[in-house]
Amino acid sequence: MTPYESLLEKLPATPKTWLITGVAGFIGSNLLETLLLLNQEVIGLDNFSTGYQHNLDEIKELVSQEQWKRFKFIVGDIRDIEDCHQACRGVDYVLHQAALGSVPRSINDPVATNSTNISGFLNMLVAARDAQVESFTYAASSSTYGDHPGLPKVEDVIGKPLSPYAVTKYVNELYADVFARTYGFNAIGLRYFNVFGKRQDPNGAYAAVIPKWVAAMIKGEKISINGDGETSRDFCFVENAIQANLLAATANNSAKNQIYNVAVGDQTTLNELFSYLKECVNRNGFNYSLPVSHGDFRRGDIRHSLADISKAKNLIGYEPAWRIRQGLESAIRWYAKQVR
Ligand SMILES: NC(=O)c1ccc[n+]([C@@H]2O[C@H](COP(=O)([O-])OP(=O)(O)OC[C@H]3O[C@@H](n4cnc5c(N)ncnc54)[C@H](O)[C@@H]3O)[C@@H](O)[C@H]2O)c1
Repeated sequence: MTPYESLLEKLPATPKTWLITGVAGFIGSNLLETLLLLNQEVIGLDNFSTGYQHNLDEIKELVSQEQWKRFKFIVGDIRDIEDCHQACRGVDYVLHQAALGSVPRSINDPVATNSTNISGFLNMLVAARDAQVESFTYAASSSTYGDHPGLPKVEDVIGKPLSPYAVTKYVNELYADVFARTYGFNAIGLRYFNVFGKRQDPNGAYAAVIPKWVAAMIKGEKISINGDGETSRDFCFVENAIQANLLAATANNSAKNQIYNVAVGDQTTLNELFSYLKECVNRNGFNYSLPVSHGDFRRGDIRHSLADISKAKNLIGYEPAWRIRQGLESAIRWYAKQVR
């Protein structure tokens, strides 16, 4: 059985209409690819602020013509409520991914992050409520754990946010909960922990660590680690996040209106990540041997992050099938073809 067939078993028998916001971005485009391969109807909304047409073009090549015809794309902005209403029309399940990511971006421009991540999020809640969708699954974030030192992170124990981005993601959870209580709305928050995989943008000042380092290794450029490299993360391959989205969107009553950690439950330091990536890049035909340097710690960063994923396992049947090394192998094969 292919991974897609096993996901199909988890979906309702008749194809449904899904809305993916942020569909031209990293996680959104991976969700789109999977849902089209599963013969679902998909509406996508994106304003291309950090997403790309080439992500959509790539999927067009990966699916059949028949499957591609099931995709309707709307260029639009979640800060505009009319765009949100238009996108939600006739939708069964919303997978809300659109947001301005990155802790440093939010520190440099908190107003921009706030307007997309909070006002845009509220617009999407209102539009989805008015369209009476079956469920609204949204991208929450491990940044909500903030300064709480406890490990592993358990959903109901959080600290104070360490960045404007973390504030916005926490406010999303508060709004979703209020909508559930006030309007009987079904919203599920997935607290992603450092998701990585194909189509994650390696370029620009706000690139995430894995695509940034992989691209640097492929191009033979020097890498600098923020801090001593003992900062740790629970890196989660994107296929695991896709599984969590499909399970959450179609979950039954007891699993509704909850927040779930989406990760693997493995802790990896940045120094370990560097050596895994170097090994893997070199196994894929490159010859990276530059020494790493160390810079300052980054403002707003959590020192350690590791998830307890038992809630998602128990309530929605989440079983992350990909550990970090397998995920890196798959992602690097993709970057090796794309990055020059
Ligand atoms: N990648 C991770 O590790 C991670 C971790 C925690 C949470 N998240 C959350 O997951 C979601 C997806 O992240 P990603 O890594 O795919 O980022 P991404 O930047 O690749 O994708 C976000 C998409 O949203 C679109 N978008 C942004 N503002 C918009 C607006 N106003 N209207 C319409 N579209 C808009 C962008 O153009 C982009 O295509 C985000 O909500 C992010 O905060 C990601």
